[in-house]
Amino acid sequence: HANVTKQLWTKKDFISSLPKRTPFSHKGSFGKGILAAGSSNMPGACALAAKAALTSGIGLLSLYVPESIKPIIASHVAEAMYVSGDIDWNMYDGIAIGPGIGRTASAEALLHDVLAQAEKPLLIDADGLYHLKHYLPLLKNKPSPVILTPHPGEMARLTGLSVKEVENDRFSIASQFAKEYQVYLILKGKYTIVTAPDGMQAVNPTGNPALAKGGTGDVLSGMILAFMLQHHQLFPAICNAVYLHGAVSDQLVSKGHSQMDVTASDIINGIPMVLHDFE
Ligand code: APR
Ligand code: MG
Repeated sequence: HANVTKQLWTKKDFISSLPKRTPFSHKGSFGKGILAAGSSNMPGACALAAKAALTSGIGLLSLYVPESIKPIIASHVAEAMYVSGDIDWNMYDGIAIGPGIGRTASAEALLHDVLAQAEKPLLIDADGLYHLKHYLPLLKNKPSPVILTPHPGEMARLTGLSVKEVENDRFSIASQFAKEYQVYLILKGKYTIVTAPDGMQAVNPTGNPALAKGGTGDVLSGMILAFMLQHHQLFPAICNAVYLHGAVSDQLVSKGHSQMDVTASDIINGIPMVLHDFE
C-alpha cells in the first residue's frame, strides 16, 4: 500500500482476499462469534443479523438477546446458541452489538459493559452507536480492534455535525474520526467508505437504492461479524462484507427483482448465489 491511502475495492480484491476453506477445516476454524441484538420492539434486527452471519460462513454463533424474545428468535434462527446474564465476552473470537437493542438504560448499560470488557474484535452498530456517544473516550487506547458502522445520521450524532456536513465531506470526516478514536469506521450510504485506524480508506462500488430500507444495515452487521472471524486481516474482511452486501443487491435487481421489492431477507437469501458466482 506504500503511498496509496485511498482505493476502490473491486471484485478482484474480493476474490483474491476471500479465505479458502481447506478440506480439513472444522467449525472452530471459522470463528466463534457472539451477537447482542434485538429487543421486544425489534426482534427482527437480531434475526436478520444472525441469519446474515450464518449465511456468511461463521463457524459458531451465540446470541445474547432479552429472555422475552428468545423463543421468537429461536424459531427463526435454528443454528444459533443462546446465552444471557453475566457472561465472559472474551470467550468469543468476535463480538457484535447494537442492532435493535433499543435506547433504554439497560441497553446502554450493556453497551458500556461490553465496550469496557471486550478484548476481542468488537463491532458496534445502530442503537449501540447511539449509546456509544456517551462513552467515546473508552475507545481511545483500547488494545483490541473496534469496528463502527454508522449511516450518515449516526455519524452526525457521533461527531456533533449535521448530516449535511457529514455528507459534504465524507472522506475526511471518516478519516479524522477513525484516527482520533483508533477505530475501523464504515461510513455507510452510496459509495460506503471503509477507514482503518491509520487512515487508510477504501470505497465500495456496489449497492443500489434497493438497500435503502429497514433491516439492510442489520444484515451488513451480521456479514461483517462473520467475515471478521474468517479473514486474517480486518480491513479486507470489512471491505469484502460491504462489497458482497452491495453486490447481492445489484445481482437481485439485475435478475428478477426491482429496487422497490428487495427486502433485507432477500439480501440474506441472495448471498449464496453471489458467493457461488465469485468462487
Ligand atoms: N446505494 C447503496 N447502498 C445503500 C443505499 C444506496 N442508495 N441506501 C442504503 N444503502 C446501504 C447502506 O450503505 C447500508 O449498508 O444500505 C444499508 C442501510 O443501513 P442502515 O442505514 O443502517 O439501515 P437499517 O438497516 O434500516 O438500520 C436499522 O438501525 O441504523 C439504525 O437508524 C437505523 O433504526 C434504523 C436501524
Ligand atoms: Mg442501521
